[in-house]
Amino acid sequence: MRVTVVGLGYVGLVTAAGLAEWGHDVLGVEIDARRLSTLLAGRVPLHEPGLQARVTRHIESGALRFTTDAAEAVAASHLTMLAVGTTDGEDNWQTAPLLACLADIVPQVADDGALVVRSTVPPEFVRRLEPVVESLRNAAGRPPIPVLLNPEFTREGSALRDFLDPDRVVVGVASDPAGRGVGLLRRLYRSIEAPFLVMSAVDAAVSKLGANLFLATKIAFANELAAICDSFGATIDEVVGAMALDPRIGGSYLRAGVGFGGSCLPHQVRTTARAAAARGVPNPLLAAVAEINDRQRSAFVGRIADLLGGDLAGRRIAMLGLTFKPDTDDLRDAPSLTIARLLLDQRASVIAFDPIERACQRAVTIVPGLEIATSPEGAIAGADAVALVTEWPQFAAIDWAAAAATMREPILVDGRNALSPEALISAGFTYTAFGRGWHTPAPQPMVAADAGLAGLALLKAPVTSSSLGAVRPRALVDG
Ligand code: UDX
Repeated sequence: MRVTVVGLGYVGLVTAAGLAEWGHDVLGVEIDARRLSTLLAGRVPLHEPGLQARVTRHIESGALRFTTDAAEAVAASHLTMLAVGTTDGEDNWQTAPLLACLADIVPQVADDGALVVRSTVPPEFVRRLEPVVESLRNAAGRPPIPVLLNPEFTREGSALRDFLDPDRVVVGVASDPAGRGVGLLRRLYRSIEAPFLVMSAVDAAVSKLGANLFLATKIAFANELAAICDSFGATIDEVVGAMALDPRIGGSYLRAGVGFGGSCLPHQVRTTARAAAARGVPNPLLAAVAEINDRQRSAFVGRIADLLGGDLAGRRIAMLGLTFKPDTDDLRDAPSLTIARLLLDQRASVIAFDPIERACQRAVTIVPGLEIATSPEGAIAGADAVALVTEWPQFAAIDWAAAAATMREPILVDGRNALSPEALISAGFTYTAFGRGWHTPAPQPMVAADAGLAGLALLKAPVTSSSLGAVRPRALVDG
């Protein structure tokens, strides 16, 4: 099938490359001139594992082409998929760019074509979609076309895999009286085995939001549970490990830490809570999810301050990771940015490292005063504490014993529960995370020998919060 994908950001470019992979003839349209020229030169302007290789392969095979001529592209396509941005980068939906795109594109769509909105749209916008398209077609003197939603459920960092092997395909029908649009989408997805669900457009929009709201709620729950674990001296890893074996619960999205970031989860929790409240629908759960998520960022800074005696002024904090999660260059609503600001506000200096240079360059423009190191070791050297914010796998491979020797104080606060407490403690660190207690380095063997059997028992004891009261901040000990 011939498909035009309009908007080549994280969603659109993955969609275009994935469709080319399935053998469709794909035309990518992008209005951002800089982004388009990068793509025309064969380069992918964002970090997404496997995407560059796929794009290169399909440019070479001819299955994927990029063009500035949207009119010509959509006039010759069976399907036109819109993947333009629908948020303002802050806390609001922004449908003006989508409406502008519809105004440009809809009059040109082939009479036997169909329009598919791939962007996430607010449920309240869905009702406007069909009348807008219909009036644009009328004004152009052209017959109506099917209008559908086809929300994506891909995660940055594994977006291609998620696209090529989805759990479900959701199709929302805004207008498709003869079923032609749904038929085209069935053909588009014919090579996958996942359930193909057809529903109303508003159901599709809310099913997309519902999935993200539930994931956000799971993460907030894990963070609440981690605080409970800390207060009882329990270990979140053990607790979630046991809970996850219950098939009613499962283990995904239960990792405690500095909370969720990115373009979807935080934005959709806040906008949905607001929209529901405006409709008179109480939503205490979503309000709590947002509050817990915000709290995690300040709690993280609080932990660093506690371990440094309560005052961050003049302290040097090594921040590991800036992107909102590993395997992306995306800084949208990244916890790192809030955390860096909070630390700087308390007159600490923050020197950050992230494997994605582009993310480092952008972060310093967003957070004035943030410094950048060119290696994790460079950030850590001379620091009073390490703040791990993004769990890039390479951070686990740091020689932590060597790193400890370069620090003023070997303290590490693991904001993603990503590192091994045992490894960090034996490297000489005081370590804390979320729901994992507070850990001091193991006593020296000399001490154990002097202390007799009790000391030996302490050395052999598993690393748990209960063995580590000494460095636990008063608030937690008392709490
Ligand atoms: C999300 C949805 O997962 C995806 O289906 C949708 O299409 C777009 O939004 P994404 O924002 O790329 O994807 O990231 P995701 O992997 O879901 O993680 C979101 C945030 O939650 C990240 O900051 C991540 O670090 C955090 N997270 C995730 C946790 O804090 N704990 C977890 O257990 C899982």
